[in-house]
Amino acid sequence: MKTITKCYINSKGGVGKTTSAANCAASLAILGYKILLVDVDSQGNLSKNFGVDKSETTIYDVFMNQPFEVLNVRENIDLIPANLDFSGITLKIQDVLSRELILKRRLTEIQDQYDFVIIDCPPEVSLVTINALACSKYVTIPVEAAQFSLDGIDQMIEFITDVKGAVNEDLEILGILLTKYDEKLKRSKAILREFDNNGWTPALYNTKIRDVTAIADAQFEHKTIFEFNNKSNGAEDYMNFTKECIKKIEQYG
Ligand SMILES: Nc1ncnc2c1ncn2[C@@H]1O[C@H](COP(=O)(O)OP(=O)(O)OP(=O)(O)O)[C@@H](O)[C@H]1O
Ligand SMILES: [Mg+2]
Repeated sequence: MKTITKCYINSKGGVGKTTSAANCAASLAILGYKILLVDVDSQGNLSKNFGVDKSETTIYDVFMNQPFEVLNVRENIDLIPANLDFSGITLKIQDVLSRELILKRRLTEIQDQYDFVIIDCPPEVSLVTINALACSKYVTIPVEAAQFSLDGIDQMIEFITDVKGAVNEDLEILGILLTKYDEKLKRSKAILREFDNNGWTPALYNTKIRDVTAIADAQFEHKTIFEFNNKSNGAEDYMNFTKECIKKIEQYG
């Protein structure tokens, strides 16, 4: 199977990008796939989620064209970590030729060893997120099931479409993932109506990630939801979401 690269992007913060990247990787690993996780957020939350605080090399070295290592963090999961060193990267790569394609060039060196490469983006629209989109085949937009989260969806779709047109014609939006969803709340129905009114419903994954404390608690303990409680609703939702992704990818052929 050819390596499939997928990124999680939304310029809004705290919507579940990192949680989804981590737990989708964990689900794929359980299903027997080999995963490379790439943290391109200087907050380093994805790295911390897998217990990585310090490392010899990071995503900074990848972007600076320096030698880098991948860390094996779990069975079937390797990671390129990030930390605060990465925060000024956009200025540093400003003068590099084809600066939108740095990550793509560097990942080519190693990606064949993996079934999936999963990239966790920072909450911004920047040269870093353009780099992530430029080397991805698929993108998932996590959206928190809350009113203000809906505001930026059209802009995100426009941004992704612009990047597709400019640097990566293969890029496809695999779907919009509703996170922190509670069907008992009145506002949840209103949110689904908003999706309908805006024409976003066809892009919406059938699986919604329920709002469950186990997900936040797992992250606090630097565990995936499967390590924390594999019988929880969170584990069920992330496994269903991952299977839905695989089905959608198969449909794209
Ligand atoms: N389904 C959920 N139920 C409950 N809590 C959740 C859920 N998904 C995420 N969280 C919690 O919400 C917070 C934000 O999640 P996360 O870090 O994944 O968002 P993010 O989009 O990556 O944020 P940032 O934009 O800062 O990178 C975390 O504390 C996480 O544990
Ligand atoms: Mg994050």
